[in-house]
Amino acid sequence: MELNTIERDDIGAAAEDLVVPPAATRKVFVKTYGCQMNVYDSQRMTDALATDGYVATDAVGEADLVLLNTCHIREKAAEKVYSELGRIRELKAERAKAGREMLVGVAGCVAQAEGAEIIRRSPVVDLVIGPQTYHRLPAVLAKARSGEKIVETDYAVEDKFEHLPRPKRAELIRRGVTAFLTVQEGCDKFCTFCVVPYTRGSEVSRPVAQIVAEAERLADAGVREVTLLGQNVNAWHGRGEDCEEWGLGRLLFRLAEIPGLARLRYTTSHPRDMDNELIAAHRDLPTLMPYLHLPVQSGSDRILKAMNRRHMAKDYLTLIDRIRAARNDIALSGDFIVGFPGETEADFEATMQLVEDVNYASAFSFKYSPRPGTPGAEMNDQVPEAVKDERLQRLQALLLKQQQHFGASLVGRTIDTLIEKPGRQAGQKVGRSPWLQPVIVDEKAGEIGDIIQVRITKTGYNSLFAELA
Ligand code: SAH
Ligand code: SF4
Ligand code: F3S
Repeated sequence: MELNTIERDDIGAAAEDLVVPPAATRKVFVKTYGCQMNVYDSQRMTDALATDGYVATDAVGEADLVLLNTCHIREKAAEKVYSELGRIRELKAERAKAGREMLVGVAGCVAQAEGAEIIRRSPVVDLVIGPQTYHRLPAVLAKARSGEKIVETDYAVEDKFEHLPRPKRAELIRRGVTAFLTVQEGCDKFCTFCVVPYTRGSEVSRPVAQIVAEAERLADAGVREVTLLGQNVNAWHGRGEDCEEWGLGRLLFRLAEIPGLARLRYTTSHPRDMDNELIAAHRDLPTLMPYLHLPVQSGSDRILKAMNRRHMAKDYLTLIDRIRAARNDIALSGDFIVGFPGETEADFEATMQLVEDVNYASAFSFKYSPRPGTPGAEMNDQVPEAVKDERLQRLQALLLKQQQHFGASLVGRTIDTLIEKPGRQAGQKVGRSPWLQPVIVDEKAGEIGDIIQVRITKTGYNSLFAELA
């Protein structure tokens, strides 16, 4: 993997007698947990490390630096990190025997939420770095290399994105024809179940010029489809090139002008921030894919209130009607939590009813996981695990039925597909439908980056099979 061409002096002093490889031959292994924003962040950290002489590797045993980019959203996600650190401890010991250094870093939302506690619990960790300080990674590593344990979890006052180095064009090309682009980070909504406002901080929108420049670089490297990211992406706002205040809808219109960018998406949205301009973008902008992830969490007004979602079930249904009126082939996706404190059978039935009413093309559903420091964790009436299990099963069965129904409705239809990568089986390529399903086609159907018309012949578990139309 060719990441690095910049050579710099080794800025860190060697810790004891371990061999610190000279800059430009160091290897970093990055493992990413959690949401798409972590995927984007891992790439940006890799870009920052490239300027410090690190080349990415897929072999953890060969790594001079292991970085875990972590997720704190549910207990299971957070605990995964500690089991991984257990394995890494053994690898680090083996490498030390061979006289080789291995620095271990924890980044992401667990880093932000737990800070120094991570090093107390897992002394194998050398550095803990929160999502708002990734641009300081090279400086932090220099200190860590000299044997200091570092915890860097301040919310940076400077603009992180301004200070993060740009990826090289060759690296962008290597990453493929679809890309993520963070436009907004953090959350001010404080849903009572959620850690994100604490781990990502308050809402920040990146400026228009920065976003446009990054999207142009992506397009220049052959990217055809860009997904704009934000914890509350539709709360994005900024001063436009015309000095007017823009919302996400206006930004999408601007990005659609960039030559080469054929497809735009955005995620994740909050129902309260779907404004008229954004809905109009779905109506008027063919580049904007007809797929919308719009989490509602519950169909019960009582539970929505306890969750601090600040809307009612009927507001959500009315909103869906407006969106569908603007774009009738839009596929909807959502997130659901079952077993929030106080959820009764009737509340859960209301969620099932809402799912019936909306008819989702896909969705994610989770058992409520009490998170330290959130109001939900302190609430009475925590729902027993067995009840959560049973409700999750019922909900998932319904959502799966709807997803399969949606897939089946496409059989026989001709649709656009963006050819993305070689298939797992020889002779195949994998594309992406407008509704985010993988589409399996014959490898001769088109080149990677082409958008071709295919006819859907049958459905798989989560994918579509197609032939050239
Ligand atoms: N910003 C997005 C959600 C980000 S978290 C939004 O507002 O919808 C992604 C999903 O994880 C949430 O939509 C929710 O369904 C789920 N989630 C968040 N906290 C959770 C918790 N404590 N237990 C279970 N699921 C949770
Ligand atoms: Fe979490 Fe709610 Fe913010 Fe989404 S809107 S990130 S669920 S607090
Ligand atoms: Fe997880 Fe943080 Fe994303 S908690 S879901 S990695 S914002």
